Amino acid sequence: MTITVTPVDATLGAVITDVNLADLADDTWAEIYSAFLTYGILVFPGQNLDEVSQGAFARRFGNTEQLSPEQKGETSVFTNRKQDGSLAKPDEYAYKIMKGNEGWHTDSTYMPLASKAAMLYALVVPPEGGETEFADMRAAWDALDPQTQARLENLSAHHAIYYSQARAGFSHETDHLYGFHDKGAPLRPIIKTHPETGRKSIYTGRHAHNIPDMSESESKALLDQLMDDACKPPRVYKHEWTPGDPVVWDNRCLMHRACPFDTSYPRALRASRISGEPETEFAPTTADPRADGYRPTTSNKSPLVT
Ligand code: OGA
Ligand code: MN
Repeated sequence: MTITVTPVDATLGAVITDVNLADLADDTWAEIYSAFLTYGILVFPGQNLDEVSQGAFARRFGNTEQLSPEQKGETSVFTNRKQDGSLAKPDEYAYKIMKGNEGWHTDSTYMPLASKAAMLYALVVPPEGGETEFADMRAAWDALDPQTQARLENLSAHHAIYYSQARAGFSHETDHLYGFHDKGAPLRPIIKTHPETGRKSIYTGRHAHNIPDMSESESKALLDQLMDDACKPPRVYKHEWTPGDPVVWDNRCLMHRACPFDTSYPRALRASRISGEPETEFAPTTADPRADGYRPTTSNKSPLVT
């Protein structure tokens, strides 16, 4: 071992020191990846990465996603600060996405190919709040009784950011900005087996809705209850951002959410999102009437109830 791995006081999360991410040897990378699979979220204090180094580190995990039309390399900046320096207002896209992120979720489940991992690096942090919280869905699965586990293993849910944003009070057009596509709503099993560790976890979050063959209200109540029970100590870690400290997490077994802050202050995080593998993170989609002129990629017998 060349790196130092210090677990945080929760079922997930570790702080990694004695490493330079901008100059990573392959054997050090192997140690980091092994810690990533074990702890689910890793914090690397004091790295001070530029875009290129962050991008190179992200590429170690797999292919990166194009998160915005402006993205050139492997990173996009998530911020409420606009190009002209003013801050996004409640009716603006950046604000709506930022506030929507305050609900527990795992990334890109509303895309046909969900995310494998994601990285954030703080550039600007508000004086108070604006932390990011993570919850361990493996430990949440382990804590369920066998009857509940057996019931959940037979269920799936649709995923759409149209749904989660509407529930948070925000409406969006089908504008083909990230997530607001017309490819339909992926239908995903609500229990996921991790493709590398084999551990099971609850894989729902704020984008999940309309479990087939269940009433809308029963489905909503079940999905809400699952998150309420899961996202509690000792399964949660709240990360307080310091500029210069990258964080990477495994979207295949964790939920995360942004914590509120006073939006009259700027907050900016540099993000890289890594795509899942088609074999394990791809899901067939069903019609999504919220998207104009949707084109489902595969037909599916379960109609989306709205
Ligand atoms: C994300 C995300 C939370 C935050 O980048 O995917 O959900 O705290 N961010 O900004
Ligand atoms: Mn997210």
